[in-house]
Amino acid sequence: MIKKKNSYLMIWVIVSFIIVFVVIKYISPYIFMVLLAKGHSMPTPSTLIIWYMILAVLGGLIFVSTSSVRWENFLSFVLPAGDDSTKKILQITIIVAFPLLVGWFVYSGTAPGTASPVELRIQHPTLPQKFENIKNPYTHVDEEAKRRCIEEGKIMYQQNCRPCHGSKADGNGPFANSFRLRPINFTDPGTIATVIENYAFWRIKEGGPGLPGVSTPWDSAMPAWKDALNDEQIWKIIMGEYKTAGVVPRQTETLEH
Ligand code: HEC
Repeated sequence: MIKKKNSYLMIWVIVSFIIVFVVIKYISPYIFMVLLAKGHSMPTPSTLIIWYMILAVLGGLIFVSTSSVRWENFLSFVLPAGDDSTKKILQITIIVAFPLLVGWFVYSGTAPGTASPVELRIQHPTLPQKFENIKNPYTHVDEEAKRRCIEEGKIMYQQNCRPCHGSKADGNGPFANSFRLRPINFTDPGTIATVIENYAFWRIKEGGPGLPGVSTPWDSAMPAWKDALNDEQIWKIIMGEYKTAGVVPRQTETLEH
């Protein structure tokens, strides 16, 4: 019986996948940089790389299955190597490399990264209905009582909110830099000055965990204060917070008497 020569077709197919990948990922950005006369490389979008790789795998499979001899040669690589030590080494390499590669893909796809999410988030989603009709109990108290509430609120603000939102309510507290989604700068006219007091009440009571999906592609570090502060304390903090920031809440459109 003639000894059948071992075929390395499978290895050539794998090598061509690797070449296709290297060309698309590392070489084509420079080819396009030259062709389009850009001053920077033009990286291939990752979804496009996936599509090209799927096409390359399909192309490779079509190529090896065009004749039964090729197909047999292709599959013969997984058969025992006999005394062919090169084949043995290649087989072991593939058996070790394949699970490592799959593991690396899964790991790099799921590991938490430090890059900012690409989705936009909505800072001011709609106020939940149950917070629409509540009222600040200190709106209509006399001036002296109001002043006291504001003073108390300012102190509670410094005790609870300063670490993130800053002593001047400018969003520059000592912890502010540790969050990707920075604590809000209340002195900015686009923040608490654009919402009614009830809105701030909701946000303070329920914090980041209370936000709807449209606002959570970025995780918010804003704590929910409902277990730590009672409603009266929250209202006072709101009054102190607006005062510290030097802005006033938006007024409700309905006429109040
Ligand atoms: C651990 C840090 C941290 C602390 C402490 C904290 N906040 Fe925040 N706060 C944030 C972050 C981050 C945001 C921005 C993300 C968001 O809107 O949830 C935010 C948002 C807010 C908003 C929404 C403002 C707007 O215009 O959308 C309000 C109101 C607020 N905080 C009030 C407070 C008050 C009052 C306290 C103290 C009782 C407080 N925060 C304590 C981190 C914090």
